[in-house]
Amino acid sequence: MFYKIAQSIMFQMDPERAHNLAIGSLKRTANTPMTAFYAQQIPNKPVTCMGITFPNPVGLAAGLDKDGEAIDAFHAMGFGHVEVGTVTPRPQPGNDLPRLFRLKPAKGIINRMGFNNKGVDNLVANLKAKQTDILVGVNIGKNKDTPVEEGKNDYLICMDKVYAHAAYIAVNISSPNTPGLRTLQYGDLLDDLLSSLKAKQTELAKQHGKYVPIALKIAPDLTEDEIASIAQSLIKNNFDAAIATNTTLSRDGVSGLANANETGGLSGKPLTELSTKVIKQLATELKGQIPIIGVGGINSAQDAVAKLDAGATLVQIYSGFIYQGPKLIKDIVDAYSSK
Ligand SMILES: Cc1cc2nc3c(=O)[nH]c(=O)nc-3n(C[C@H](O)[C@H](O)[C@H](O)COP(=O)(O)O)c2cc1C
Repeated sequence: MFYKIAQSIMFQMDPERAHNLAIGSLKRTANTPMTAFYAQQIPNKPVTCMGITFPNPVGLAAGLDKDGEAIDAFHAMGFGHVEVGTVTPRPQPGNDLPRLFRLKPAKGIINRMGFNNKGVDNLVANLKAKQTDILVGVNIGKNKDTPVEEGKNDYLICMDKVYAHAAYIAVNISSPNTPGLRTLQYGDLLDDLLSSLKAKQTELAKQHGKYVPIALKIAPDLTEDEIASIAQSLIKNNFDAAIATNTTLSRDGVSGLANANETGGLSGKPLTELSTKVIKQLATELKGQIPIIGVGGINSAQDAVAKLDAGATLVQIYSGFIYQGPKLIKDIVDAYSSK
C-alpha cells in the first residue's frame, strides 16, 4: 500500500530525480523506526550458491544502489543479498542527462547511465559503515576514459580494494553504455581477463585468509556460439558463477512506445524471455559445474520460478522492483518455498 502511494508520486517525476529521492530517503531512514514504511518479514529459505549460504534466493540487481548508500534499507525489505555498483576505480559523472526513461505500458526501462558512480574508495567507506549483516556483492567495471585494452587494470584495482568487504565480486563486461566494454566478452580478450582476475583472487585469498567468489555478468545479446564460448572460458578459468543477464540493445516488443527509440539498454518485462533463454543455454553448457544468478525481466513470482527452472540458483530484480515494489521479494520467496 505504502509503495503504491510512493510510486504514484514518483512516477509523476523525472525518473532520475525520483531515483535520487528514493535512494536519499532510504539512506536517511535505514536503521531508524521509519523503516516501518517498507520493512517486511521474509521467511528464511536458505540457498547455497558459490559456497555462500544466502537467507533467500532474491537479490537486488546491480545499478540501483551504485554507491552502496542504502544497503541496510534493502536488508529491511527482506532482500537475501544486494549487489552494489557498478563501481569504477575513479569517480565519474556518467552520460549527459536525460539518460533514464520509463516505458510504462511495457513495464520496461531504458537507461544509458554510463557507470555514474562516486568511485571505489567511496563505496568501500559505505561498505565499512553498513550496520546489518546482509550479504553484499560488489559489481566492478572500468572507467570510461580507460582504453578497453587497458580495462583489465581497472578491474584488478577495484578487486583489490573491495575484496575484504565483499561477499562476492561481479565482473561487469556487459553494460551497453560504456563504449567497447562488451568486446571483453569475446575470445582471447575474455580469456586473458578471466585468467588475470582468477590469479588476483588466488593472491588476495592468501593475503586476506578468505575466499571471495568471482562472478561474470553477461549480456543477453549473444549468439549461441558466443554463449558456448563464454561458458568454456568460465569453466577453464574456474570462475565461481555467471550472472545472466544485463540489459538488451534489442527493442523487440516495445516498438512504437514512447521512449522506445532512446539509446541504451532495455530492461524489465520486454527482456524476460530473452534472458531466460540465455540462462537455459548457459545452464546446458555449464553442466552444473558453475552456478547461474538469473536476472532480467522478473516482474512476478512466476517469472522468477521460470528463471530457477531454466537453471538459475539465485535471482535478482531491478525493473520489476520499480514497478511492483518490495512485495515482489515476498511473492518470489513464497513461490520458492512452495516449489
Ligand atoms: C537504471 C539502470 C542502471 C543499471 N546499472 C547497472 C550497472 O551499473 N551495472 C550492472 O551490472 N547492471 C546494471 N543494470 C542492469 C541490471 O542490473 C539488470 O541486469 C537488468 O536491468 C535486467 O534486470 P531487470 O529486468 O530486473 O531490470 C542497470 C539497470 C538499470 C535499469
